[in-house]
Amino acid sequence: MPGGEQVKLARMILSVPAVTGKLKNQFAIRCREFDVSAAWVKDRYLIKAHTDLAGKPRGTALDLCCGTGQIGRALKKSGWEVRGLDLCSSMAGSSGKFFPVSEGAAERIPFKTGAFRLVACRQTVQFLRIKDVFSEVSRVLSPGGIFIVSLTVPFSGIDAGWLHKIHRFKQPLLLKFYTAESLSAELKKAGFAIKESRRLTVRESLDRWMARAPELSCRVRREVISMVENAPAEYRRVHRVEKIRGEVFEDWNWVIFKAVFQGY
Ligand SMILES: C[S@@+](CC[C@H](N)C(=O)[O-])C[C@H]1O[C@@H](n2cnc3c(N)ncnc32)[C@H](O)[C@@H]1O
Repeated sequence: MPGGEQVKLARMILSVPAVTGKLKNQFAIRCREFDVSAAWVKDRYLIKAHTDLAGKPRGTALDLCCGTGQIGRALKKSGWEVRGLDLCSSMAGSSGKFFPVSEGAAERIPFKTGAFRLVACRQTVQFLRIKDVFSEVSRVLSPGGIFIVSLTVPFSGIDAGWLHKIHRFKQPLLLKFYTAESLSAELKKAGFAIKESRRLTVRESLDRWMARAPELSCRVRREVISMVENAPAEYRRVHRVEKIRGEVFEDWNWVIFKAVFQGY
């Protein structure tokens, strides 16, 4: 292997635990106010889209990267037996009040093969080594089991470039920026067939969200808000960017996939 490649590989290997440590810290800081940070966290239409796609309760479900456990709590309410997994001990402690939660990484799910009828993972794949995680999800699902994966994505090619720029700036730990199309392609590549999908928008106050991301400096928060306020006209139109009494609002576009593992 050429010298440059070796260095690159060594950096990649070294950077995984470093990023994991940073993610743990970031979510430990955010944990206390996570439920009242972005509107999407508790948005009932968004949560209902997940439980609707999950369908009739048919056994045990895993809320993967569960955070405070909003999706797991809703699944439990609809009759699923729920387990959770999260990297961050504060998050695991918080969701652990509602259902049993283990502390660990989605890249190495600490459960037996075929243990779950359903795995749900909301708003986290952008941080994950998706190939490893999707392979682990297919392992822990029982045959015919359902995988629900959801994420905020661009509305279309119109806002994708600018949104990518904003995400990269506000979230240095972002591993990959996905569109609905690229996420669906990753699922297919990992052997999943998409059975159904939903799209919906959630209106967010950027000021409210920023105020609950204490790891971001005031300068970064101001810059993110300015990037949205002064975005290209097409971006502002599709996101319905609006300033009301000094607060900046915009729509975030969600995609929710229901997939079933079919093999490679
Ligand atoms: C944006 S929050 C989403 C929480 C939850 N899924 C929800 O929708 O409310 C991301 C969560 O993923 C967790 N997380 C990040 N990387 C992880 C990994 N590699 N394995 C397990 N959990 C991870 C974080 O600790 C955090 O709680």
